[in-house]
Formats: sequence, structure tokens, C-alpha cells
Amino acid sequence: MLKRTHHCNQLTTADVGEAVTLSGWVNAYRDHGTGLIFVDLRDREGLTQLVFDTEDASPELLKKADKLRNEFVVAARGKVRVRAGGPNPKLSTGEVEVVVEELEVLSESRTPPFLPNDDKGDLPREEVRLKNRFIDLRRPAMQRILKTRHRVTKVVRDYFDEQGFLEIETPILCKSTPEGARDFIVPSRHQPGEWYALPQSPQLFKQLLMVSGCDKYLQICRCFRDEDPRADRQAEFTQIDCEMSFVEREDVMQTMEGMVRRVFKEVMGVEVPTLERMSYREAMDRYGIDRPDRRFGLELVDISDIVAKTDFKVFTGALEKRQGCVKAIRVPGGAEKLTRKLTDGYTEFVKQFGAGGVPVVKVNAEGKPETGIARFIESVWSEIAERTGAQPGDTVLFGADGRTTCLKALGELRLKVARDLDLIDESKWDFLWVVDFPMFEYDEQGGRFYAMHHPFTAPEPGQIEAFLNADPKDVDTIEGIVSAGYDIICNGSEIGGGSIRIHNQKVQSKVFELLGLSAEEAKEKFSFLLDALQLGAPPHGGIAFGLDRLVMHLTGTDNIRDVIAFPKTQIGADLMTEAPSRVSPEQLKELHVREVEPEQK
Ligand code: AMO
Repeated sequence: MLKRTHHCNQLTTADVGEAVTLSGWVNAYRDHGTGLIFVDLRDREGLTQLVFDTEDASPELLKKADKLRNEFVVAARGKVRVRAGGPNPKLSTGEVEVVVEELEVLSESRTPPFLPNDDKGDLPREEVRLKNRFIDLRRPAMQRILKTRHRVTKVVRDYFDEQGFLEIETPILCKSTPEGARDFIVPSRHQPGEWYALPQSPQLFKQLLMVSGCDKYLQICRCFRDEDPRADRQAEFTQIDCEMSFVEREDVMQTMEGMVRRVFKEVMGVEVPTLERMSYREAMDRYGIDRPDRRFGLELVDISDIVAKTDFKVFTGALEKRQGCVKAIRVPGGAEKLTRKLTDGYTEFVKQFGAGGVPVVKVNAEGKPETGIARFIESVWSEIAERTGAQPGDTVLFGADGRTTCLKALGELRLKVARDLDLIDESKWDFLWVVDFPMFEYDEQGGRFYAMHHPFTAPEPGQIEAFLNADPKDVDTIEGIVSAGYDIICNGSEIGGGSIRIHNQKVQSKVFELLGLSAEEAKEKFSFLLDALQLGAPPHGGIAFGLDRLVMHLTGTDNIRDVIAFPKTQIGADLMTEAPSRVSPEQLKELHVREVEPEQK
């Protein structure tokens, strides 16, 4: 086999006259009948133009060249010359070409289902790309993403190595760790009726590594969560998982900020400034969401106290609900830009979040409210206008409901309006930490608490006593306990989340109790953790970043499947290998598993 001397993005005018060998895929083939045959040869690095000179080349060589088709794999030996047809400024090798003297066809290709050529802009449906992922990955855009992903993990490993972290692997076949999603489970052959769970994260193992004295841990690890995938979620995804001993919240946040800064600088050339810390309460109040995107305005403004003075039932009724509130979003210039069709659509849009609708007013040239609910709020308009800053030509959108529903609906609406009106400045980077989360959320319907992060998150140091003394039935007090957790947000997406952990067995047992686990259940599920907490557990804390999400930001894609070499579809299918698939009755028998017919929908 001809051995390559250069890759396809390497040759320049400095190599003119050199004998070289290139290997790669036929990206394009052109025979204009002018005595020259052109082949663009592609490899991971780029393209180089090969030329066959029909006058000079041997008949055998021309015969081979004539047989070439798209995606054939070839090695070509020849001489570099300045491009006879003038430079191609679109290619970095566009000033030269290789006049082929010897050609070896290493592998032929049937007509591929599509050409992995980004320039043509006629990509097939995503299913076709996923089914033929090995072809899709030949596309330069996909190769760039794979390279970026590699760079990120390289920079991350280097950074943490410098900071004294050890990379340690934790098991894939484990006992279930509660991170809030459904587990993927694997039957045990040796222990009939017993099952492993795939890790939703290495949470408990990394904590135990701290108890083991490992001090600083890193792992770039696969996590499995059997939840419905979304644009930024996969059932199988990768975390940059870290844990540190003898630290407080700020220590972890600063170390992690350093990592983010290094990655953005080295991979994108973007300088990330010191990150602002915002409390959960403030994020919810101003943006209606715990991962605010601050690249645009449209902040939520509370007007509950003002509209309480009206007798507009939609507002006063909402204020009578538990934690009822009325909030407004001022849309600058909305009177013109927000069409009736859009605002009617918003009412439908917020219904999915449990809200009744979106009352609207436009502000006329005199600065007075018009249309929509104008007449119900005229009496207090001047106060609303002052607080929201509403100007002539604006539209004001309202939300009125119990706090949770009102914030959820307006938080989502804010994002939708920004997208509809194209208000998001895509050239900006917005990073921040959200801190001071409540430890627990109370589910009124189920009458029970849920851990807001996970059950191993500690209360803020100043709140530990209050937490230990709190009556489990005292919902208000428990809801008021703030955790030592933190989320790192980039452009409105949560790229990482973590906390200082509980290292005191009494606190951990109380959390289990609040989550509805009896002492026996807690022991059955977590005896190893409760033991470890009584056998010398250092104070510790950590975080996990979503590597896939980080790479999405760094490559500017909004589809998580683009940043994963072999991703799964919305229903967890790998279209290429056709996983999941059936297994033989023998395999099931060996695993002591009997199949049950799926229920008819
Ligand atoms: P958490 O569940 O917040 O925390 O996950 C950490 C980060 O992982 C990413 N992520 C996901 N990415 C893609 N697909 C998913 N299905 C998915 N789920 C989560 C997010 C998220 O911020 N053990 C804790 C971390 C800790 O406390 O140290 C944990 O897993 O970017």
C-alpha cells in the first residue's frame, strides 16, 4: 500500500515540486473533457485537489482514474504544483494541486445514500444521517465537532491534573443512585432476581472516594438516565464529574470557574469573566426560571401589590391563591412587532404550563393602555407603567397565578417572545452561578418533599442546626432551608450542577426521613453511605458538568445528537446498529427473566 506522507490539508506552495502521497476519500470527481480529470481528495483534515493529466498519464492510470466514484478510498502519489487553473481561495490547500503519477484504489464504495459534503447544503433527514452515521461523520462539520470535543476533554484533563485531581473510574454496574430519573437495569445471572442499575451519575462513589482520602477526584464518565430525551438531553450522556475534600462552596465554584475559563479560552478564544452569583430566588423572580438567559431583557416585574387595588377578577383571584402573584413583561416596541396572531398563540402556549392565558395591553402614543385588558387596569396604569418602564409603542404581557405556575409560564413565555422577535444576541456569552437553592420542593398533590438537587446535598452551613431541629411536618420551615448547591449556567442552559455534600450521618438520615424513607429503607438502600459517614468522612463537595451540553455551546449547535458520535433518537434507538433489539429465549432464561407482553395502548 502506498504510505501517505501528508494529510489533505497540509500542502502549500512551499511543497511545490515535492513528491507526496495522500490517502483519503473521493469527495468530488470532475472530467470536463479538457484533457484533465480532477479529484478532490478528502480526509479528516481537509481537501486537496488531485489532477490526472490525460496527455501525460499512462493508460493504466487513466483507466483507474476513470473508475473512481464518490467515496472510493484511494492513495495517490504525485508531484505538488501550483494550481494550473488559478487558486481556489475557499480551500486552505487551494493554491496547489497534486499531479498524480500512481493511484491505488484501497476500497470501493457503492453509491452512498448521501454525500458527506457540507457545501452542497442538501443533507437528508436526520434519520437517514443517523442510520448511516459513519458516512455522516465524514462531513467536515461533524469532524470539527469531534475534534472540538476531543480538545475539551484534553484541556479539562490537563487543567484538573494541574490542580491535583486524580482520574478514577467508578463502576457501570451498580446499585441505583437516585438522581431523579428512571434507572436502566441489568439482570444478574449469578443472583437470580437481583438487578444492577446503570449509574445515573457516580455521585455516591465519588463521595466515598473522598471518605477514602482521595482528596480530589475527576472522571469523564458515561451516565444513564431512562428519561425522555429532549434537544439537550440524551438517555446516555457524558459528565465531567468532580469532587473535592476540605472545601466550602466558594472553593469548588472557583476551581470549576477556572476550568470553564480555560476551556473557553483554549477552545474558542473566548475570555470568560468572573462569574456573577445569583440567588435562586432572584433568578426565579426576575426570569421565572432557575437558569436565566440574560442575553436579552424582557424581565419579569412583580405588580401584585399594584393590581391588588383593582377589582379585575383574573388578577385578584390569582392573588388569593397560595403564594399568588401577578407579574408583567414589558416588550419594547411590541405594539407593532407582536401581532394579534402571536399574542393569541401565547395564551395557548402558557396553557401547557398550567396557566389560564396571557392578558395583554398595548401602550398607545399617549402612553395609555389599549386593547386587551386595558379597561380593567386603567386606574392603576400609571403605577404599572412606572414599575415596568412601559413606553408608547410597547406591549405588556401579564401572568397571574400561584407563584409556581405564574413563574413557570412567564419564564417560558419570556424565552418564546425572545425567539419570536429574534431578540437573543447570539454573539454574547452569558455565564453565571445560581446559588441558594431550597433543599426541598414540596409536592402539594403527593404531600411529600423532593430533594431539589439530590439527597446528598448539604444545607448551607448556617442552616444545619435549623434543619436538624425542623419538624418534618412544618412545610414552610423545611421549604425555607437553603442548600449549599450551585448550578452553572451558560446562555440559559445548565451546563453543570453540584453542591457541598452532607458529611454528617445525622443530617443525612434526616434528609432520608424527609424524603419519606423509613430508617429500615434508608439502611437497606444506603447502609454503605451511612456507615461511611460515621467512619471518618471529610467535608467535601463537587460538581458535574454535562460534557455534551458544553460541547453544544462550543460548537454552536442546539441538537445534542450532533455532539455525540453515535447518539440515540428520542425513543432511545440507535438507528445504525438497531439497538435495542430482541434477545434469544436462552439468554433470557439464563438471566432468569420472563418477558411480559407490552400493554396495548
Ligand atoms: P445533575 O443531575 O445536575 O447532577 O447533572 C449534572 C449535569 O449533567 C448534565 N445532564 C445531562 N446532559 C445530557 N443529557 C442528560 N439527560 C443530562 N442530565 C444531566 C447537565 C447537568 O448540569 N451527581 C450530580 C452532580 C453533583 O452533585 O456533583 C448530578 O449528576 O449539564
